[in-house]
Amino acid sequence: MTKTIGILVGSLRKDSYNKIVAKQFAELLPEGFDAKFIKIDDLPFYNEDLEVEGSVPEAWTRFRKDISEVDGLYFVTPEYNRSIPAALKNALDVGSRPMGSSVWGGKPGLVVTVSPGGPGGFGANHILRQSLVFLDVPTLQQPEAYIGGIMNLVDNDGHIADGTVDFFKLITDKYIEFFNKLTK
Ligand code: FNR
Repeated sequence: MTKTIGILVGSLRKDSYNKIVAKQFAELLPEGFDAKFIKIDDLPFYNEDLEVEGSVPEAWTRFRKDISEVDGLYFVTPEYNRSIPAALKNALDVGSRPMGSSVWGGKPGLVVTVSPGGPGGFGANHILRQSLVFLDVPTLQQPEAYIGGIMNLVDNDGHIADGTVDFFKLITDKYIEFFNKLTK
């Protein structure tokens, strides 16, 4: 049966580099795997007061269903002020509640950070991993995916340099191996 990888992109920007990278990762998935891009830009800020029947935002319910239906998770995100964007953190929080009903647990994850800067979003990468430990999302350890200097790796048509695509393919192969080990 086909496995679905849910892809969450931390940038909401139309011309986002992270979106370009995420699309490339989606295209590299092998036979037997599908990608599903999961919307996070319509999620109201998490507020526990809304967790009562009749008040739960529709977007929260849709998001929780989307995550519960996928088999694996890719997080592709920029770094904002040495952390992850608020929209992505909010999505993690929404999916983690109500207490005892988190939709994250056990789904194999991949963390990719993309930045124009040299460190490639190293801070965001590890801050995200900190939350994923608590949410029980096991993540691929190696190879790490800090994609720095992104403006030099993508041309004006959104085409990613061949050597970089080869690196993404290597990461994908390792992720699929990791996924298969964890889910067999
Ligand atoms: C940034 N940017 C940034 N980059 C980085 O490497 N480390 C950082 O801490 C930050 N901080 C930061 C904060 C805020 C609020 C913004 C808007 C941006 C720059 C960021 O990496 C750059 O804008 C990327 O192009 C964002 O990714 P997308 O939107 O192109 O996918």
